[in-house]
Amino acid sequence: MRKPIIAGNWKMNLKVAEAVALAEALKPLVADAAAVEIVVCPTYVSLYSVAKALAGSNIAVGGQDAYVKESGAYTAAISPQMLADAGCTWTIIGHSERRHIFGDTDTLLNEKLRFALASGLKVMFCIGELLEERKSGKMEDVIKRQVVEGLKGLSSADLANVVLAYEPVWAIGTGETASPEQAEEVHVFTRALVRDMFGADAAEAIRIQYGGSVKADNAAELLAKPNVDGFLVGGAALKADSFAAIIKAGC
Ligand code: 13P
Repeated sequence: MRKPIIAGNWKMNLKVAEAVALAEALKPLVADAAAVEIVVCPTYVSLYSVAKALAGSNIAVGGQDAYVKESGAYTAAISPQMLADAGCTWTIIGHSERRHIFGDTDTLLNEKLRFALASGLKVMFCIGELLEERKSGKMEDVIKRQVVEGLKGLSSADLANVVLAYEPVWAIGTGETASPEQAEEVHVFTRALVRDMFGADAAEAIRIQYGGSVKADNAAELLAKPNVDGFLVGGAALKADSFAAIIKAGC
């Protein structure tokens, strides 16, 4: 049985005091949610304060990206070691906004993933197709490229610290959620790719989150699909009650 993992990606939202207030508000609402693993990913600026507020709780903290060096002359970058030092056990790598707004390539994301894992972080690694890629029948090619290039060079032991997040770009922040059937189809396809690369046991064990306009009222039906193992939530994670309701759907 795969334990569902439900993570909030706060993206570039919330000032420090707001981020801490959200963390404090969330804590009691989900304190008894032992059936799911919970992670929140604040901005770099708020990480340390949020991690302090959540210390000793059942909510882990993650970064939203991590660079491929430990320290040095890399202006504006943050290393996995710095994330860990600030209280993170997780980071997101390969979010579609990194791929499409900031130009992170498959090669760079593979490097980021491997360095984050080697540095002791667990990683939510994101994949997902654009609307035009889906419409033009390229969806499977895109997902395959992102998985094969992204996970290149990892060992099966590495993979135990990776969660995949399927986030169709057309569903992110649009209010248009993939149907449970659409999500399940891609999750099954993705798990088969992992099987080809790492074998049946690794494929069975890896958790695949869905992300893209997840809300309290569509969470349960998505999670009911056998290959949907949790969520990466954007907008609905910015309010304690709506994120808690999504978490409750996983309990
Ligand atoms: P929304 O839940 O706002 O659609 O964002 C999804 C997402 O990108 C999470 O990483």
